[in-house]
Amino acid sequence: MTAPDTASQRAAELREQLHHHAHLYYVLDAPELPDAEYDKLFQELQALEAAHPELLTPDSPTQRVIGQVLDGFTPVVHAVPMLSIRTETDTEDTGAISFDERVRKQLELGEGDAAVEYSAELKFDGLAINLRYEQGLLVQAATRGDGETGEDVSQNIRSIGQIPLRLKGVSAPVLEIRGEVYMRRDDFDQLNERQRELGEKTFVNPRNTAAGAVRQLDPEQARKKPLSFYAYGLGEIQGWDVPETHSGLLDAMLAMGLPVCEHRVVARGAAGLVEFHRRVAQLRDSLPFDIDGVVYKVNSRALQQRLGFVTREPRWAVAHKYPAQEQLTRLNGIEIQVGRTGKLTPVAKLEPVFVGGTTVSNATLHNVFELRRKGVRIGDQVIVRRAGDVIPEVVGVVKSARAAYVPNFRMPRACPVCGSATEREKGGMDYRCSGGLSCPAQVKQAMLHFAGRRAMDIEGLGDKLVDQLVDGGVVTSLPGLYKLGVARLAALERMAEKSAQNIVDALDKSKSTTLGRFLFALGIRQVGETTAKDLARHFGSLDALMDASQEQLLQVKDVGPIVAHSIHTFFAQPHNREAVEQLRAAGVHWPEGEGAAAAQGPQPLMGKTLVLTGTFPTLSRDEAKDLIEAAGGKVSGSVSKKTHYVIAGAEAGSKLDKAQELGVTVLDEQGLRELLAAG
Ligand code: IVH
Repeated sequence: MTAPDTASQRAAELREQLHHHAHLYYVLDAPELPDAEYDKLFQELQALEAAHPELLTPDSPTQRVIGQVLDGFTPVVHAVPMLSIRTETDTEDTGAISFDERVRKQLELGEGDAAVEYSAELKFDGLAINLRYEQGLLVQAATRGDGETGEDVSQNIRSIGQIPLRLKGVSAPVLEIRGEVYMRRDDFDQLNERQRELGEKTFVNPRNTAAGAVRQLDPEQARKKPLSFYAYGLGEIQGWDVPETHSGLLDAMLAMGLPVCEHRVVARGAAGLVEFHRRVAQLRDSLPFDIDGVVYKVNSRALQQRLGFVTREPRWAVAHKYPAQEQLTRLNGIEIQVGRTGKLTPVAKLEPVFVGGTTVSNATLHNVFELRRKGVRIGDQVIVRRAGDVIPEVVGVVKSARAAYVPNFRMPRACPVCGSATEREKGGMDYRCSGGLSCPAQVKQAMLHFAGRRAMDIEGLGDKLVDQLVDGGVVTSLPGLYKLGVARLAALERMAEKSAQNIVDALDKSKSTTLGRFLFALGIRQVGETTAKDLARHFGSLDALMDASQEQLLQVKDVGPIVAHSIHTFFAQPHNREAVEQLRAAGVHWPEGEGAAAAQGPQPLMGKTLVLTGTFPTLSRDEAKDLIEAAGGKVSGSVSKKTHYVIAGAEAGSKLDKAQELGVTVLDEQGLRELLAAG
């Protein structure tokens, strides 16, 4: 039986819609359809295909969901070998300059000749993949292997939402796209966080994890590891006109619906390359994924052909590295750090090592169970990783024979700072000091948190001062901060009268706050900034909140049993209540009924999502965020079609480009002020 025309028409329609929405969602990060609606269309197509198997096409979005455990991968001989690029390990400007010199020499260009044009892009730290499209349909995905022969990993690659199963506007018999499969840092961190919670083995870095996922024989396992993709080149081509320049090729790939990284430029001459290398170095830590360098490619295809290859590397491309994000060094010792909530974290004391652009001598070991699983012992050679803005961590150990027996590390029975007993919650991974606010380490952390910019915002109350105050016994509790006078402060070492006065002024200024900030500042476990604001809005007054039952707390948006329990326990402790009273007595105050009042006040930005980028002439990021939220708006970190406004300041980055690309309204600080005043 063949399917009725209507069924086949509907299936085609559904495929079309699902492709369109998947592209908006995965590639443009600008969904236009709620997930549930997408799922409905998806299920309708699945049902149609089940009823009429002949309607199933290889590019059907339902084919991303597949799954058979394989015995092994089938070898794939690459029609065009997958080459590698020469690596320039000189991480200074000279690396770029010498590449340009080589290119000019080989092209026999003299001093008077024009600068060579390059396509400069990022060197993604993942693994190279060849995607074979025939008549626009994805028919195979293969790893690089040895460059000649790779492995067929189509099944796992198909589950990467960013990779189109069908190219837009292309029906060439053969079009092979090459690019990098990688894992974003946030995806990697989440994955490891989950592993840690489960007490399971953590992964070393995003690249190895991505490579492991792609080569997983069980697609179900592969799918649990979120992967991403960027296209950067071509393999075999039949029946498609290749653009004249590499930058043109990247544009063309973008238009086909492939993800192409936005951080790319056409650079002119060595100066252009140097500028790109420097700019990306600045950007590196804030990118959502790891890069180990940048890549320069001669832009003109004609020139590329003239330059040709040496053995397996093109003469027209080079990878210009940055300092490595992983290094080997010696673990000299393990110290225990006591956090704000008493959590004990083993910290590696390292032989100082240059990694990810800075010298690192401390790194986190997360928790004692992870440390043991990795088999780390004092004196070992360990791998330290520092990527992005995150705290450096020890990710592994070089398993070599130890010179002598070194006992396994044990968590101390007593807090190394205050001597109170340490304890571990049943089933939990973390040990804690039971000393609470009698532990100086916890007091210090609590003070730093209390003084933080998004809490009480006490300018000048930083690490060093807090150490001096607590170690010297000058201040032992949060309320004690407000008893500090100029004379007492000025008596501290290296503290001038003027700075002492500034701190007293800052303390005074901080007394006038909001209930949300105050609640956040108290450092109640599980209560972050957002929850604190929600609590303030819901209860309107501190007394109402302090007296709330767990049931009443559960009424608050996003507050579940764990959070409710934590808040309730906090206020059930007399010393916490006492501290709150003392803070109020010291003059800390906020507009009473804040939540209700705010909801009644003008809310010109109600329901609006804004994105901030760049530096503003008068407002800090935090100030802008506060103003927007007070006006009912939401501040988001990334631009999508759902963004209502992008507020751009000086040196606005890729978010501005994205806004322009998506046609989102862009305003400056003045524009924001007008929006706020509109209510
Ligand atoms: S182009 C003929 N562009 O680096 C040039 N490669 O050693 C072929 N890579 O195996 C590669 N980012 O895995 C190119 N923007 C980029 C890249 C890139 C990362 C990797 C790729 C390749 C290796 C080259």
